[in-house]
Amino acid sequence: MKVLILGAKGNLGQAMVEVYHGHEVSAWDRAELDITDPDAVTQKITELAPELIINCAAYNAVDKAEEDRAIADQINGYAVGFVAKAAAQIGATIVHYSTGQIFDGGNSGGYNENDKPCPVNAYGMSKFMGEIELQNSTENFYLIRTCWLYGKPAVGPDAAVGGAKKSFTDIMLEMAKEGKPINAVSNEFGNPTYVVDLAQATRALIEQQKPFGIYHLVNSGTASRYDWAQEIFAIKGISPELNSVEGRFFERRAKRPKYEVLNNNNFIQLRPWTEALREYLA
Ligand SMILES: NC(=O)c1ccc[n+]([C@@H]2O[C@H](COP(=O)([O-])OP(=O)(O)OC[C@H]3O[C@@H](n4cnc5c(N)ncnc54)[C@H](OP(=O)(O)O)[C@@H]3O)[C@@H](O)[C@H]2O)c1
Repeated sequence: MKVLILGAKGNLGQAMVEVYHGHEVSAWDRAELDITDPDAVTQKITELAPELIINCAAYNAVDKAEEDRAIADQINGYAVGFVAKAAAQIGATIVHYSTGQIFDGGNSGGYNENDKPCPVNAYGMSKFMGEIELQNSTENFYLIRTCWLYGKPAVGPDAAVGGAKKSFTDIMLEMAKEGKPINAVSNEFGNPTYVVDLAQATRALIEQQKPFGIYHLVNSGTASRYDWAQEIFAIKGISPELNSVEGRFFERRAKRPKYEVLNNNNFIQLRPWTEALREYLA
C-alpha cells in the first residue's frame, strides 16, 4: 500500500513510519510539505497519489497556543481541511489525530466518542476546528483522539531541526538525574499513551477495515502526572524528591481540563499504561 505520513519527524510520526515498514511509505515533515499551504498540499498530494494519508503533523504547544492562536488554528484547524480535501480528491483514506483537550474536562468518568466537545483553551479550540474541517471535507476518515503521548525523542542530525520533542517521561528522568526536587500535578488526569501502541492500533484499525468515524485510542487506565512520575521512578528503581502539587500552583498560560481521560468504546482495548511504560523504559 502507498502510504503518506505527515509530521513524520514528530513523536507519533516516527513510530508510524516504523509500523508501516515494508510498505511504500513517504515520510514527510514540514520541510517536504508545509500543510498550511493549500496549493502545495493539493499539488504534492495529488502528484504522489497515496491510498492512505496519516496526518501526525500538529501544533502541540498548549500554553504557547494562547498567544499563537492564529498559527495553532492554521496548523491544527484549516490545514486539516486542506489535507482532507486533497485526500477526497484522490480517493485516499485519511487518518487524523485529536485530543481529549477538546472536552471541558469536568467528567470524572472520562469522555466517550460521541460526547459533545467544549474546549477550554486555544489549543483545544484549534484541534476541535481540525475535527470539523476533517468531517466537512471527506467521508473516508478515521478521527483518532488520544492523550498524553510519549516515545523516543528524535536523535541524530535531524533532532535539532524539528523532530520529536522530549516527552514527559524523558523530562522526568532528566530532572531526576539533575537531582533537583520535582513537582508534578496530582489533580489533573489523563491516559499516558505509548506512541508505538498507538501506531500499531492505528494500523490494526485500518487493516481490520473498521467503519470510518471517531475512535478513542489510549493505553488503558488513568493517571495524574504525579502518578505517572511515581511509576517512572519505581520502574527505574530511583527515588528523587517528588512532590505532589495541585494544578493551580503551576503557572501556566492555558487552562487545563481536569479530566482528559478518554474511554475507548469502539475498538480493542490497548494494554495498561503501566505495562507500556515498562516496555518503553526497559
Ligand atoms: N503529544 C501529546 O501528548 C498529544 C496528546 C493528544 C493528542 N496529540 C495529537 O497526536 C498527534 C501527534 O502528536 P505528536 O506529539 O507526535 O506531535 P509532535 O511530536 O509535536 O510532532 C508534530 C510534527 O508536525 C510537524 N509540523 C508542525 N507544523 C507543521 C506544518 N505546518 N507542516 C508540516 N509539518 C508540521 C512538526 O514539525 P516542527 O517540529 O517543525 O513544528 C513535528 O515534526 C497530533 O495531532 C497531536 O495533536 C498529541
